[in-house]
Amino acid sequence: MTDLLDSGERLGRAELEALQLERLRATLHHAYENVDFYRRSFDKVGLHPSDCRSLADLARFPFTTKADLREQYPFGMFAVDRSRVRRVHASSGTTGRPTVVGYTAHDLDVWADVVARSLRAAGGRPGQMVHVAYGYGLFTGGLGAHYGAERLGCTVVPASGGMTSRQVRLIQDFRPEIIMVTPSYMLTLLDEFERQGVDPRSTSLRTGIFGAEPWTERMRHEIEERFAIDAVDIYGLSEVMGPGVAQECVETKEGLHVWEDHFLPEVVDPITGEVLPEGEEGELVFTSLTKEAMPVIRYRTRDLTRLLPGTTRVFRRMEKVTGRSDDMIILRGVNLFPTQIEEIVLRTPGVAPHFQLRLTRASRLDTLTVRAEARPEATADQRAEAARAIAVACKDGIGVSVSVEVVDPETLERSVGKIRRLVDLRDDG
Ligand code: DLL
Repeated sequence: MTDLLDSGERLGRAELEALQLERLRATLHHAYENVDFYRRSFDKVGLHPSDCRSLADLARFPFTTKADLREQYPFGMFAVDRSRVRRVHASSGTTGRPTVVGYTAHDLDVWADVVARSLRAAGGRPGQMVHVAYGYGLFTGGLGAHYGAERLGCTVVPASGGMTSRQVRLIQDFRPEIIMVTPSYMLTLLDEFERQGVDPRSTSLRTGIFGAEPWTERMRHEIEERFAIDAVDIYGLSEVMGPGVAQECVETKEGLHVWEDHFLPEVVDPITGEVLPEGEEGELVFTSLTKEAMPVIRYRTRDLTRLLPGTTRVFRRMEKVTGRSDDMIILRGVNLFPTQIEEIVLRTPGVAPHFQLRLTRASRLDTLTVRAEARPEATADQRAEAARAIAVACKDGIGVSVSVEVVDPETLERSVGKIRRLVDLRDDG
């Protein structure tokens, strides 16, 4: 196995930390000297990059938030002249201005390396074929996966998202070993295989590398069983790089190794901002260690997880992200995440793994409705029993009363990329 590790993965822990400190100090200087935003934010708290003498000193520096990036729209966070920026990506910007990110040639090179490393950890090998069904475009998923797979020496099929029946045909005809796609779109593909009368377990696929949205162990089990593949988790975010910030390895499927030689993770208390010890759950924060075009210092991801020691690699792991603070639903005083409902729906007989959540408000009382799709073969009695089982599990397991509708097969909207689980129909009046 060691011959499959690259030089960064072979460092000892002490060597890695020395490298991190050297890179951290260089990044702080680079950000301070070249980005007005960082100069102002460090000056405000009276800190200079040279005050960072140990990795722990990073905690003294201010955070960067998504709102900060938005305010600098479009290119205010760039630390190099625009002419050195080889590519930009941008977030969808569903809530206001998009956030723009930029990459130098060196950044693109590092990105391809970390995605290649991710693919290798997932079990991918040179010479294999990779079907990339993440969207291509301003979203980082498609192009990020693409160049990493090429870097590893794979043959890439740049399918992008959508045109689902064609995707199934391409997989049948080209016979890729690996698919990279959101887990929710993988379920859409599953339906399409079945619609075309093709047994999803009979395909050439051996490995699925799923990310860009939260997904549960139940979902892993469902996908692995239905497709007869290994399903592993890839994490990333555009502000920090894109896909390939952290990756689960196929040997253990237990948490994601953070590629810590390039991205330094911290977990902080979401309210106080205080750094939490390893093993405690909180908000994930990243500092880039090698980025040129757009270094980020203590970027608050809003993703909730905990840091764990390394296993098959020197790098620490992050636990699978089961929710982000933005997705948290507060229902009559109880906090819950859509992934908790996913766990319940996926273990309930009679319903398919497709569900949607609706929040409504009547007489100042919020109501959450879980809409789950019946399996085609489910009888009326089985549907009623499924609805009851979901409501009971929500009450007993999460502590919330929900209403449940088991709807007809193929009535809920299907994902073609990142799925939106929650439809909020409350008017805040
Ligand atoms: O989603 C990058 C990506 C593409 C990652 C393809 C993996 C695969 P953004 O659009 O900037 O970038 O969204 C980033 O998506 O902060 C998380 O909330 C969520 N996310 C990404 N990967 C995972 C994952 C891409 N494996 C945001 N599990 C992040 C849970 C994830 N959430």
